[in-house]
Amino acid sequence: MRSSQYCLLGALLSLLPFSSAAPSAGVRIPGHATVVSKRSLFSNYTFVIAGGGIAGLTLADRLTEDPNVTVLVIEAGPIDFGQDGILVPGNFQPWWYFWPGLETVPQAGLNNRTPDAIAARVVGGGSTINAMVYLRGDADDYNAWGALGNPGWSWQNMLPYFKKAETFTAPDPALAAAGNITWDSSVRGTSGPVQYSYPNFFYPGSANWWNAANEVGLPPVQDPLAGKKQGVFWIPSTLDAQTMTRNHARINHFDRVKSSRPNFHLLTSNVVTKVLFNGKNAIGVNYLSTTAINMSCPSTVYAAKEVILAAGGFGTPKILQLSGIGSKKLLDSFSIPVVSDLPGVGQNLQDQPTLSIPYTFTSNISPNYGTLLTNATYAAEQRALYDSSRQGPYTLISSVSSNIGVVSLQQTTSSYRQIIADARRRNPADSLPRDADPAVVRGYAAQREALLKQFARADVGVGTLHWDTDSTALVYHLKPLSRGTVTIKSTNPLDSPVIDFRTGTDPADVAVYTALFRKNRELFAAPSMQALGPVEASPFGANLTTDQEIYAVMRDLINPTNAHQCCTAAMMPRDKGGVVSSDQKVYGVKGLRIADASIWPFQLSGSPMATVYAAAERLADIIKREHRLAGAP
Ligand SMILES: Cc1cc2nc3c(=O)[nH]c(=O)nc-3n(C[C@H](O)[C@H](O)[C@H](O)COP(=O)(O)OP(=O)(O)OC[C@H]3O[C@@H](n4cnc5c(N)ncnc54)[C@H](O)[C@@H]3O)c2cc1C
Ligand SMILES: *[C@@H]1O[C@H](CO)[C@@H](O)[C@H](O)[C@H]1NC(C)=O
Ligand SMILES: *[C@@H]1O[C@H](CO)[C@@H](O)[C@H](O)[C@H]1NC(C)=O
Ligand SMILES: *[C@@H]1O[C@H](CO)[C@@H](O)[C@H](O)[C@H]1NC(C)=O
Ligand SMILES: *[C@@H]1O[C@H](CO)[C@@H](O)[C@H](O)[C@H]1NC(C)=O
Ligand SMILES: *[C@@H]1O[C@H](CO)[C@@H](O)[C@H](O)[C@H]1NC(C)=O
Ligand SMILES: *[C@@H]1O[C@H](CO)[C@@H](O)[C@H](O)[C@H]1NC(C)=O
Repeated sequence: MRSSQYCLLGALLSLLPFSSAAPSAGVRIPGHATVVSKRSLFSNYTFVIAGGGIAGLTLADRLTEDPNVTVLVIEAGPIDFGQDGILVPGNFQPWWYFWPGLETVPQAGLNNRTPDAIAARVVGGGSTINAMVYLRGDADDYNAWGALGNPGWSWQNMLPYFKKAETFTAPDPALAAAGNITWDSSVRGTSGPVQYSYPNFFYPGSANWWNAANEVGLPPVQDPLAGKKQGVFWIPSTLDAQTMTRNHARINHFDRVKSSRPNFHLLTSNVVTKVLFNGKNAIGVNYLSTTAINMSCPSTVYAAKEVILAAGGFGTPKILQLSGIGSKKLLDSFSIPVVSDLPGVGQNLQDQPTLSIPYTFTSNISPNYGTLLTNATYAAEQRALYDSSRQGPYTLISSVSSNIGVVSLQQTTSSYRQIIADARRRNPADSLPRDADPAVVRGYAAQREALLKQFARADVGVGTLHWDTDSTALVYHLKPLSRGTVTIKSTNPLDSPVIDFRTGTDPADVAVYTALFRKNRELFAAPSMQALGPVEASPFGANLTTDQEIYAVMRDLINPTNAHQCCTAAMMPRDKGGVVSSDQKVYGVKGLRIADASIWPFQLSGSPMATVYAAAERLADIIKREHRLAGAP
């Protein structure tokens, strides 16, 4: 159904004087930051932000520090109501707020399977439903983004924003000593909005895994947030140490400031359907209710200074394409008038694929994560402990243990030089869809070279190893060379986009991921894990010995997504298929920026959340400086 069909009634109503699109004279504006209803919106804000996830709420908080600025955030999802499954790590239930219907096309590199993509649809975005893993990239990640033609991006530039974004609360010293938790206070924030700390419990078997990792060349890392983390460490978690509950963007960038910000409006359960232009100037957006779609027609709200997209790795390219910003060929095929011909929009899709490897044990130690699942007495006892004193396994996010390892390619396999040499011989264009635009191919070739340089470095990770202390080892592939696409399916803004991760289509990814699998196997074969009698279980098993045999099984099991989608509106020079400049302005138009993980050129050696928070802090300063707002640095 096209928007023009379902909103006919709305269109007629909007001609009447009481229409919501009319200036809101006479509407009483509450004196604090507000979850607004459509009727109490202003018709004109200083900034309108599409998407109230991590980037959107961080930016709105910082921009409304200037009382003369008004900001409207339009968020597709509802506001969470502090459910146990959101706040209590051990009772983690993310699926309540998954974006519905995000199907993938058959994945050519994964035996044509069609696993669903995952994205948040809730105020706070991913921070409200994610696994709370709070890691930065390695220093070279930001330096390499800078070297791709993005002045102002480097580890040195990001570090102050990482610190500004956060407050770290140290663990109890006795726990830190017993558990091997270490950190470097000089790289950790002390007064920012995002609260993080560590769980106060570890399963005894996690020590076996830690020691086995040491035995196979993964040393303890003093601080994984200091710009390199090749080895093993405790996982920093977005826990509020006072309550041992989740600290997400709804809490740290909306609730925290709402009593003092009458200029911060949040409209929930509405999707931005397109950006409106006057010539090449972005002047506002259309939006549509997700709960009353049959009654409403897109409404309009204006932005005096800028429209900022923060709708995430799938949402942002979709809004751009619906607004006439994207490849001319694509836009023509939907008869969407071209505002800016940017072939890179919706290209360059990347995630960080995951693989679960099942194990059985002849002599595992109890309690372990499985005890919580199988022994109701233990689970009840531990929940009571959490409720009374905020101690125990419920401070760990469900299914995730306390420690983790990140490996460089040279730590992973002695054939790393061969993998790099083979990848270098390949024509980069062969790794992209056949119809990729020449500018996009040039940009990808530059990215590929930057990544292959990283593959040769000892201080950049390519994979993550983890054991839940029970029946599952997890291996993440952090730095894929394969590139996917996200494109609109129709002009109906309520339709899901077409998502093609193209995971495992580049042979180098197959080689790296197989090597990561073998590294996990090596770790489980080390003496400290052998003490537990692990047996690699079906469909894997010791009888799979060649790379081909191993990958044949992996291909059926790799999950193309860890919900870390990024890079679909990349920050690169325009002649390299870039969509935004280094100050995150969309090429070819005025008054439009992108704030979320869509702008990253390529994946980090780490998980995304901390970088999204910090990059939004950085962007807030750039915008404040440019518009001479209060609090500009
Ligand atoms: C289940 C899950 C587990 C994860 N685990 C971790 C983890 O442990 N550690 C980590 O670092 N990262 C994790 N991530 C990823 C991390 O949360 C994301 O990378 C991060 O949230 C991205 O931030 P963002 O601002 O780019 O987008 P989001 O935080 O996704 O925000 C985008 C927002 O825009 C809204 N939106 C989309 N389209 C529209 C539209 N048209 N109009 C209005 N609103 C729109 C969405 O509803 C969403 O709220 C996880 C994600 C998920 C979903
Ligand atoms: C807000 O605007 C008024 C009027 O233009 C100006 O006098 C005042 O200094 C501004 N406040 C800030 C914090 O910029
Ligand atoms: C911590 O490190 C020490 C020394 O390597 C080791 O003996 C111990 O088992 C480790 N404990 C945990 C919980 O990792
Ligand atoms: C809209 O109308 C269709 C068909 O009449 C109906 O199936 C659907 O549930 C309605 N959706 C909403 C959100 O009311
Ligand atoms: C919005 O407000 C600004 C500043 O007050 C003004 O310049 C602009 O014309 C307004 N735009 C609309 C569409 O009302
Ligand atoms: C289950 O947990 C309880 C409480 O910790 C413990 O006493 C009991 O031995 C456990 N049962 C089994 C079968 O492990
Ligand atoms: C490995 O063993 C399993 C279970 O015995 C069997 O199904 C599988 O075919 C074997 N694979 C190979 C490559 O030998």
